This record gives sequence, structure tokens and C-alpha cells, in this order.
Amino acid sequence: MEYEVIIPAAGKGKRMGADRNKLLLEIDGKPIIVHTLQVFEDDPLCKGIILSVSPYDRLELENWLVKHSIFKVVAMAEGGKERQQSVYNALMYATAPIVMVHDGARPFIQQAAIHELAEQAAQTGAAIAGVPVKDTMKVIREGTVEHTIDRSSLWSIQTPQAFRLSLLRKANEEAVKTGFIGTDDASLVEQIGEKIQVVEADYDNIKLTTKEDLFFAEAILTKRKSGYEK
Ligand code: CTP
Ligand code: MG
Repeated sequence: MEYEVIIPAAGKGKRMGADRNKLLLEIDGKPIIVHTLQVFEDDPLCKGIILSVSPYDRLELENWLVKHSIFKVVAMAEGGKERQQSVYNALMYATAPIVMVHDGARPFIQQAAIHELAEQAAQTGAAIAGVPVKDTMKVIREGTVEHTIDRSSLWSIQTPQAFRLSLLRKANEEAVKTGFIGTDDASLVEQIGEKIQVVEADYDNIKLTTKEDLFFAEAILTKRKSGYEK
């Protein structure tokens, strides 16, 4: 199933503690955002990339696109204060019936999960990537355990999150009206009562958030170069 992708890249990367947007930090010789973009550039089913960028990073990003032959960026939307606003601003450029949203900070997403998400979204309206949690989960209040949660029903949710364009637009319009701010795109769709499928993705699909994640990123790259699968 063909799709367009919105890539929010307009954050500040505060938790990374670098002196600039973390997506411009390099791993394996190129910026994190270039790794992410290349996955979609190389996917024949991806018909266009809409990037949300901050005005400070725009010129540098445009140079990287040229340098790494990223041709599929059809629009650069202005980033907003919150990620949700960055996605909202990008939505106005979307045209394909299926659109997915993928964090610029998740460079290790793979084509198999992307394709499954696009298929599921086309069939049902909404599909998001996730993995079952591995740790035991407990609710803690004031430093002590309140209770343990049944882990079998808990998943860590990632991006991509894929939607019928009409549904994602409706959910975003409704969120603007009600002032709802969600921590992911699917939560806006949940708010309007629609069902969302979950596609099991990969534990490698991490979001590079803090400094130590850069070491995990190097480890994932080493693993991939060694040909190790899974
Ligand atoms: N993002 C965005 N616009 C914002 C905030 C975030 O486009 N106003 C993007 C980021 O660039 C990133 C993705 O959303 O690709 C996920 O956000 P996160 O990992 O939280 O990145 P930052 O917001 O940059 O980091 P931090 O929260 O540590 O400042
Ligand atoms: Mg953030």
C-alpha cells in the first residue's frame, strides 16, 4: 500500500543535552535525521515525505538533503511548540489516502513494519507500531509499590503510526477544538472513539532521546553490519 510520511523533526532535543537539535548529531558519519529519511527514500511505496522543521535548522537540513540525495521531501512545514502542532502543520500538505507519522528520532525503523502498518491502516483506519514490554510494571506512589500490573496486556508504543488521511485530519481538528494534547498521534484518534490496530515492530526501533541512546545506536548499527537478524 502506497503512503506519505510526516516526519516531525522540529524538536529542541533538550534531554539529549547537546547544543543543538539532536537530529543533527551524527551517527555512523551522518546526521540522525538523514538515517531516518533514507529508510523512506529507499522504500518504493513511500510517495512523499513531509518534514516539520524549525526555522533555525531549515537551511542546514536542506543542505543535508542535497548531500545525501534525499529527493522525496515534498514539503517542509513549520514546526510548532509541541510535537502535536508540528504534525498538525505538516498535515496540511498531505494528499495520499494513507499517511503515517514517524519520529525523526527513530532511525532504525525497517520496511517490513512500515508496509504492515500501511496495509492495516488501509483496511481498518489506524495502525501503530509497538512492542510488548519486557520489564515487570508496578504502580508506585510516594516511593512505595501500590500494585503490580498484569504485563501481558502492556505494550510500549512507537512510531510509525499510520492512518487514513481523513481520520487523522478529523482527529487533529477535534483535538484543536477541545484543546486536547496527546503524547502520540493515536491518542487523538482514541479521543474520537476510533479503533486502532497494533503492529508488532522491533525492539531496535528506539527513539534517540538521551546521551546513552547514542551508544545503543552504535550497537544497533554494529549488529546490523554484522548481518545479525532480530
Ligand atoms: N518534535 C517536533 N516538534 C516539537 C517537538 C518534537 O517536530 N515541537 C519532533 C522531534 O524532532 C522528534 C519527535 O518529534 O523527531 C519526537 O520528539 P522527542 O523525541 O521528544 O524530541 P525533542 O522534543 O526534540 O526532545 P526533548 O523532548 O528532549 O526536547
Ligand atoms: Mg520532546
